[in-house]
Amino acid sequence: MTWTPSPMPCATPSSSIPRIVLGVAGGIAAYKSVELLRLLRDRGYHVACVLTPDATRFVGAVTFSALASEPTRTSLYNDPTTPIPHTYLGTHASVVVVAPATAHLIARYATGLADDLLTATLLATRAPVLLCPAMHTEMWEQPSVQENLATLRRRGVMILEPESGPLAGGDEGAGRLPEPETIAELVSNIVDGYRGVLSGRRVLVSAGGTREAIDPVRVISNRSSGRQGLALAEVAVRLGAQVTLVSTVTTPLALDVAQAIDVIHVENAAEMHEAMQKRSVDSDVVIMAAAVADFTLTPSNVKLKKRDGVPQLQLMAVADIVSDLVTRRHEGQLIVGFAAETSDVLKNAAAKMRDKGVDLLIANDVAAPGVGFGHETNEVVIFAREGEPQRISLRSKEAVAYEILARVAALLPQGAP
Ligand code: C5P
Repeated sequence: MTWTPSPMPCATPSSSIPRIVLGVAGGIAAYKSVELLRLLRDRGYHVACVLTPDATRFVGAVTFSALASEPTRTSLYNDPTTPIPHTYLGTHASVVVVAPATAHLIARYATGLADDLLTATLLATRAPVLLCPAMHTEMWEQPSVQENLATLRRRGVMILEPESGPLAGGDEGAGRLPEPETIAELVSNIVDGYRGVLSGRRVLVSAGGTREAIDPVRVISNRSSGRQGLALAEVAVRLGAQVTLVSTVTTPLALDVAQAIDVIHVENAAEMHEAMQKRSVDSDVVIMAAAVADFTLTPSNVKLKKRDGVPQLQLMAVADIVSDLVTRRHEGQLIVGFAAETSDVLKNAAAKMRDKGVDLLIANDVAAPGVGFGHETNEVVIFAREGEPQRISLRSKEAVAYEILARVAALLPQGAP
């Protein structure tokens, strides 16, 4: 994401109430954004609405004006309150949310077009942006749409993935706008992040799959891309934390937070264990998002030769890092583990939560479509010591990171640091 927590967006002319710009593009799901607007107002936010000209074919600006905090805008021109509505809206926003975001809106935003008030506002803001795409499955699955979304994600825009279910015209499939309550909840978490819920906290995150050397050339590894761990580190910075990342991957971090993250590169489980042990001593939160090998071996110093026959590799168990950190946990420290499962996800995750003694366990079914290793999206279930498991539906890994870190922030002892 490309926003910095400058005081500007909250130094509004009126008050310090979070200000949401609700953008609505021209899709049938626009009717649901009326309910979203009501929910955002119920949460006490100042909401200004921007409808694209096509959105007004589906829903009326009057409906939005009646519920919003200021008159709804549909054009860059002839605004009675300001000659430059896009910069007014963009610079005063705490969050810009577009629901529904159509394929057309996404393409214009990704290209940098500013040919209506909504796209101009998106370019004029430094606030976090959340897009909630909704469209027919065929459109959603178009490589052009997915590539535009990947471009926007890379620039820090958060994407709430659409759900599967009934679509307009009696069709069924992926592309349905998530329920307004889900979107409102996510907006609240972003707003809370903006207020720095992890301010002053020291957060240690591990990311990526470990690589156990067989010889100087070959390794035993896994399919982890490290993206969920990286997203957790990036979002933790945006939430105000001081972050250390112990990572096996060299994927570049988002530009706005890269400088703020202390990165330690490791290769194998033993190196990761040592770095995590050392850094956990002065961390308030430890998040073990890395996919650590369960087995390692003593590597050969020279490349094993094919002509010598099939090598008999002697595997040895690797110490469980997170369990070890739990035994060393200091007063008030919060430890989060992950469980990548391919079957009986909930049952296995609940057992893992007990076995490892962590405070939160994030379970994902890595065999499900769009979930876990190598994907840009994730769907997880958060297990805590108390209460029912919380399911976080399919969305970008940044958006999942917000949900996980919101839970972390809520569990941290109050008052400290
Ligand atoms: O037991 P399993 O590997 O499925 O548990 C996953 C969780 O345990 C993750 O949080 C992972 O980072 C952690 N883990 C660990 N040390 C290992 C293996 C897994 O900390 N050797």
